[in-house]
Amino acid sequence: MSSSFKNTLLVAFSICFIASILVATAAVGLKPIQEENKKADLLKNILTVGGLYKEGEDINKVYEENITPEIIELKTGEVLPKEKFDKIVNLEDFDILTVANSKKWGKDIPGDKDIAKIKRMPKYMIIYKVMKNDKVEKYILPIYGKGLWSTMFAFISLGKDLHTIEGISFYDQGETPGLGGEVENPKWKKIWIGKQAYDTNGNLKIRVIKRKVDPKSPEAKYEVDGLSGATLTTRGVNNLVRFWLGDDGYGPYIKKLHGENS
Ligand SMILES: Cc1cc2nc3c(=O)[nH]c(=O)nc-3n(C[C@H](O)[C@H](O)[C@H](O)COP(=O)(O)O)c2cc1C
Repeated sequence: MSSSFKNTLLVAFSICFIASILVATAAVGLKPIQEENKKADLLKNILTVGGLYKEGEDINKVYEENITPEIIELKTGEVLPKEKFDKIVNLEDFDILTVANSKKWGKDIPGDKDIAKIKRMPKYMIIYKVMKNDKVEKYILPIYGKGLWSTMFAFISLGKDLHTIEGISFYDQGETPGLGGEVENPKWKKIWIGKQAYDTNGNLKIRVIKRKVDPKSPEAKYEVDGLSGATLTTRGVNNLVRFWLGDDGYGPYIKKLHGENS
């Protein structure tokens, strides 16, 4: 091997080596920033769905001043006392999928009940209460389920009457932009506001339908327009909302609150 070829190889190898160290260092170094951004984005979505987000305001401050998170047992609707918290279930870094996949805190969903197509779910869930003068104004509930291409994560907010929907916000989804991705369209999200999740007897009624809602229909207050050209994403949204607001999701918690409020 000629010495100039050896030198070329040496230079190429050195460049690759230095570049790989730089990339690895950047990846490790940027991780905390990415996590912080993810957390800030989550808080922004909680505030948005709670009607509290204003551009330019300090997200952390608005969150601290208005939101009280708590962890509830989905099966009973009971609040989990702080003494039971651990590294996975706590108010600071509750990650839904980590909780769902944990042996202690998550569970399998039987196939016939798994309309949101998520296979596993947390037994305990974090929820966020929007407070005003020490009273609950709204309940913000995390919901998620399969669309066409992706698992879609969102928050839905219920008013203090526990049946009026005050907002919905998808913060993580991988549907096609312009089709299923329209779940993030502000105009579509607005349609949800004021819709009734339950009837006066507490039966789950909310549905996302394939067509546009007929405003004259007696069911109109329980119906949301489907996304055009995205029937499968629409079906996914309908299923995930109905799963989480139903008996296997927040149903027991909502019934318990009704009991306490009456
Ligand atoms: C490239 C591509 C991306 C698509 N993305 C979505 C999507 O994100 N959500 C969805 O429901 N349908 C999507 N579709 C359409 C579905 O394949 C299916 O045709 C559609 O959901 C039927 O809806 P329609 O009955 O409203 O036409 C996509 C189709 C193509 C070709």
